[in-house]
Amino acid sequence: MKTKPQVIRTENFVVDAVDFILEQAHKAIGERNGFRIALSGGNTPAPVYARLAAIAHDLPWELDYITFGDERCVLPDNQQSNFRMARETLLAPAAVPEKSIMRMRGEIDPQIAAREYQDRLDLMATQRGEAIYRHDLILLGLGDDGHTASLFPGTAALEEITRRVAANFVPKLNAWRLTFTFPLINHAGHILFLVGASKSPELIERVLEGDRQLPAARVNPTAGELTWMIEE
Ligand code: 6PG
Repeated sequence: MKTKPQVIRTENFVVDAVDFILEQAHKAIGERNGFRIALSGGNTPAPVYARLAAIAHDLPWELDYITFGDERCVLPDNQQSNFRMARETLLAPAAVPEKSIMRMRGEIDPQIAAREYQDRLDLMATQRGEAIYRHDLILLGLGDDGHTASLFPGTAALEEITRRVAANFVPKLNAWRLTFTFPLINHAGHILFLVGASKSPELIERVLEGDRQLPAARVNPTAGELTWMIEE
């Protein structure tokens, strides 16, 4: 059964996105004394992370746990690195402690990095009595080809139904990526797509109508909620 998404269209995209994330954070901390959030990469989230760092003074980062929905297979100080973007906009400015961050090691063999990340998530899930690690909130973006995380159209990781983290070769980029798969994404308590004004309205409508040729349209939380925040 497809979860009916909440669609928020806003001219105050960055402010509203940060307010949404903080609301989820306070809810999770209130209920479970911690906030497990997966960050998305690319360009859209950067101003959102910067504002989050600037105003979330009362967020107990030491109780939170930050993972990454995907990563490019590069060194962490590479301009392409999603970790580097997050470190510059959020992790360093907000002084998030190292113990609250789990970086995908894009600099090592992709298969090993994916397995290592999944093993670490599985260990934390087991410690919490969960079969699959349950994020309180996973942030996702929308690529111009309908990809999300690093689940690109026509790539192998789209068909992954057991592994939670995969190394995914993307022919159009001629590059490997590390990515959450649908089993992990769809297990989240809440999924928030952040879609900037540069994205084509036709693409957004196709996704919202459920065109399964578009990977983003296949995000469907099994027991959680799905929200689209779209910049006007
Ligand atoms: C990545 C992201 C990717 C991103 C979309 C949108 O590693 O690139 O995780 O899924 O969210 O490509 O990117 P923009 O926000 O730059 O448009």
